[in-house]
Amino acid sequence: MTHDPALLDLEPEDMRKLGYRMVDMVVDNWANMSDKPAAVDMEVADIRPRLREPLPQKGGSWETALEKARVDVFESMGQIAHPRFLAFVPGPSNPVAALADIMTSGYNTAASLWRETPGPVELELTTLEWVKELVGLQNHADGAFTSGGSVANMVGLAVGRDAKLGNDMTGAVIYCTDQTHSCVARGLRILGFAPDQLHAIGVDAEHSMDLEALKAAIAADRAKGLRPFCIVANAGTTNTGSVDDLNAIADLAAEQDLWVHVDGAYGGAGTLAEEGRRLMAGMERADSVVIDPHKWLFQPYEAGICFVREPGLMHHAFASNPEYLQDVAQGEDEVNFSERGIQLSRGLRAFKLWLSLKVFGAEAYRAAVERGCQIARDAEAMLRESGRFEIVTPAKLAVVTFRLTREGLDDEATNRMHRIVVDKLLKDGFAFVTSTELNGQTCLRFCTINPRITQADLAGTIERIVRFGDAANVNV
Ligand SMILES: Cc1ncc(COP(=O)(O)O)c(C=O)c1O
Repeated sequence: MTHDPALLDLEPEDMRKLGYRMVDMVVDNWANMSDKPAAVDMEVADIRPRLREPLPQKGGSWETALEKARVDVFESMGQIAHPRFLAFVPGPSNPVAALADIMTSGYNTAASLWRETPGPVELELTTLEWVKELVGLQNHADGAFTSGGSVANMVGLAVGRDAKLGNDMTGAVIYCTDQTHSCVARGLRILGFAPDQLHAIGVDAEHSMDLEALKAAIAADRAKGLRPFCIVANAGTTNTGSVDDLNAIADLAAEQDLWVHVDGAYGGAGTLAEEGRRLMAGMERADSVVIDPHKWLFQPYEAGICFVREPGLMHHAFASNPEYLQDVAQGEDEVNFSERGIQLSRGLRAFKLWLSLKVFGAEAYRAAVERGCQIARDAEAMLRESGRFEIVTPAKLAVVTFRLTREGLDDEATNRMHRIVVDKLLKDGFAFVTSTELNGQTCLRFCTINPRITQADLAGTIERIVRFGDAANVNV
């Protein structure tokens, strides 16, 4: 530290030491991740007292503080980039992107107003072009990074609302399915829609939107004098990886003058693989599309993206011109990202993805996404071969769902057994697996987007599921 504490500064040599120590910690964790537990089993009483300390009035040693953080924070969590973190939608991340965040925060980089930070804004624009090329959205004009999928979905829906409804939301109706991610309903609520303005359409056997039911709902709502305006389509649901028929939805929307918003937060990057391109044909016709780089584009948190097809609509929905920003008003070719979303001050989330693509290249990215799909197919094959599982939904994109079978158990007892298995897996720590509900029954689910998952990881996880399930006392 310098002699004058009010400068809040470090001597360069101390700053270097702090940085090197942090890098060593990050690299050690990365290199040894597979040998560590994927999940932690903690109670509030185990961790809260360790972190509830009084506000430090005087500064202290960074060595001590960093060591405490390593143990009580960074080792006290499920490791989301761990190859056996198969729960929810993992964040496999990558080491280049992980370290890239040091640069953006070290330079305190903003990417908001072109006049203020032209290089970062241009880098974000370039990265958006690259993502469009990767996922096949070259016809989308505008885009912006966000904190993640929840906010990106809200941004797309806000643009759709502005374009189709202006300021009058009365009677407006949005369609989704019961498989649509819950952040869509929450986002719409924040945007001012009442819960009954979101109509959930039924799904077919593959958990994709039932288009006949959608057509019927639109007609019935129009007959009631309501104003259908938006279809939220899924490009990879969290539950099963299912994809709605995006071409058919685009045809219907064109006929009915509706906004199509595609939530590809998890699955959109699946278009880097052959299976995803086939399933998501028509995604490019959507008015707005969400992709989450912090899922299947291997970025650390946080990074989401919303793309909008028609130029200028994002700007129209978000532009504001206060007098204190008059000197940095958007010029002809200049982009102010503050006018494509909710944030004014915003960091350069694109840098980590830009650097990842520069270092690894698009070919490695395509291979990594292909591998995630292949691992799901391998997992399905292993589950089938064991003879102990019923496959609920086969591998789709990188999700497979399944039920362990045990002789003599009815459906209810089997549901209970699955919840016990999830709990035992958490306590064991080897792998992190979660359950979901499909067709009214509890099942387990692997999400295999991490290309670093090995066959041994899958085998060890499946062996534990069988062992814990067979030992479960389901007689409650
Ligand atoms: C399909 C889908 N949409 C939206 C989200 C929400 O994204 P985020 O967690 O980045 O806010 C998720 C998260 O898993 C998701 O899987």
